[in-house]
Amino acid sequence: MTIKLPEDFFFGAAMSGPQTEGSYNVGGRLRSYWDMWSDKEISAFHNRVGSYVGNDMYHHYEEDIKLLKSMNFKSFRTSMQWTRLLDKNGKLNQEGAAWYHKLIDCANENGIDIYMNMYHFDMPEYLYERGGWENREVVDAYANFVRIAMEEFGQKVKYWFTFNEPIVEPEQQYLHGVWYPYEKNFKKSINVQYHITIAHCLAVNNFRKLEKAGKLCKGAKIGMINCFSPPYTKENPSSADLEAVKMTDGLHNRWWLEVVAHGRLPQDVLDKVQNDWNIEIVMQPGDQAIIAAGKVDWLGYNYYQPTRVQAPDSEFDENGMPCIAKPYIWPDRKMNVYRGWEIYPKGIYDFGMKIKEECPDLPFFISENGMGVEGEEGYMDENGTIQDDYRIEFVRDHLEWIAKSIDDGANCLGYHYWGAIDNWSWANAFKNRYGFIRVCLDKNYDRKEKKSASWIREVAKTNSFE
Ligand code: BG6
Repeated sequence: MTIKLPEDFFFGAAMSGPQTEGSYNVGGRLRSYWDMWSDKEISAFHNRVGSYVGNDMYHHYEEDIKLLKSMNFKSFRTSMQWTRLLDKNGKLNQEGAAWYHKLIDCANENGIDIYMNMYHFDMPEYLYERGGWENREVVDAYANFVRIAMEEFGQKVKYWFTFNEPIVEPEQQYLHGVWYPYEKNFKKSINVQYHITIAHCLAVNNFRKLEKAGKLCKGAKIGMINCFSPPYTKENPSSADLEAVKMTDGLHNRWWLEVVAHGRLPQDVLDKVQNDWNIEIVMQPGDQAIIAAGKVDWLGYNYYQPTRVQAPDSEFDENGMPCIAKPYIWPDRKMNVYRGWEIYPKGIYDFGMKIKEECPDLPFFISENGMGVEGEEGYMDENGTIQDDYRIEFVRDHLEWIAKSIDDGANCLGYHYWGAIDNWSWANAFKNRYGFIRVCLDKNYDRKEKKSASWIREVAKTNSFE
């Protein structure tokens, strides 16, 4: 059966500055949190590959843009590294700006829209040392960074995004203890989440001011990108299971949806945190008005896996921290064993319908979806092409559910594949490859198409697939 997507539905690629650019110490680039962590503890990174090289896009950008164009992609999301654009005084670093001008010009000349995201987990080291997102002054420093970037590139970048996955740093660094500094402290995590929220809202406000002053392209848009995951629980749940679903959804999903669609934070979540758990979120006078200005023009929705939860064993842990939920293992789950993530294409539909219900006026697009696989060399044929049928199946199945969500009224405008060109994946480094394009680490970061590249090329050309 042929499945058709709307004619104006767009395809594109998602990547990020810190995972692709490399050239970490040229042109006045400052050190980031990732450079710091790599230096402190290289053994935390797969095969001891730290943050330094990315996929060498700094040198390959012209070839990369042409590859994206050849796949019939209309757009490319990357992020501007704060560490490359500004110096330590918060002023423009001309050499860093010059590289971004080249990248953006090249995309524009090739008819590829740049979707410019302003933060992808990459705090400058000197600001991290001042407390990072725990420090409200860093929030202002971020707003300054965004303003300078928009002033510099506002005439050539139409689509801006404040954050990629703002939930990830609070959780990975301060709640689950997975990323340096490995803390498990809900109070810190929720306050970092709050500060990032204020940072987002201030950035939107800067965008609106510049837009009003005629400093941006005609039709410019501002958005936020987040990893949304529909939470599910077991069959015949108890009321405690349902409460675990509600709070998981509240903290991960509704928190951001309410800010970007309605300019407020979810009251039930604030009540739970501040009244039931007695945890202070440090707010300043005037914050409510700042949050009211956080509404965006559209939303990027990253989807990889569902969240399955059930009631926690107790309300608080041994350190007095609230327990929100504990994982529920669905007996029928199908796993991507390399990443440890469940593959559940219907989840992309379920959350699309949730956006439709809860934020009816907010258009969105799938801003990340993809499959990372370890040991892809094992799938290489005699011509050196990776036969990645698993990736074709993964994307196809998700696109089918996206098409259904559009049929059922979701305002989903397009699809960006994550890691269209293999890139560096944080602590996993180059363990799992996501790309339609392979990056040959042993051959000067050469690019080579995988089987999936010709498949997606056809899909993006015709907006249809079998
Ligand atoms: C998303 C991030 O969560 O998932 C990307 O925005 C990340 O930065 C991608 O690379 C895939 O996850 P991972 O950990 O396998 O790289």
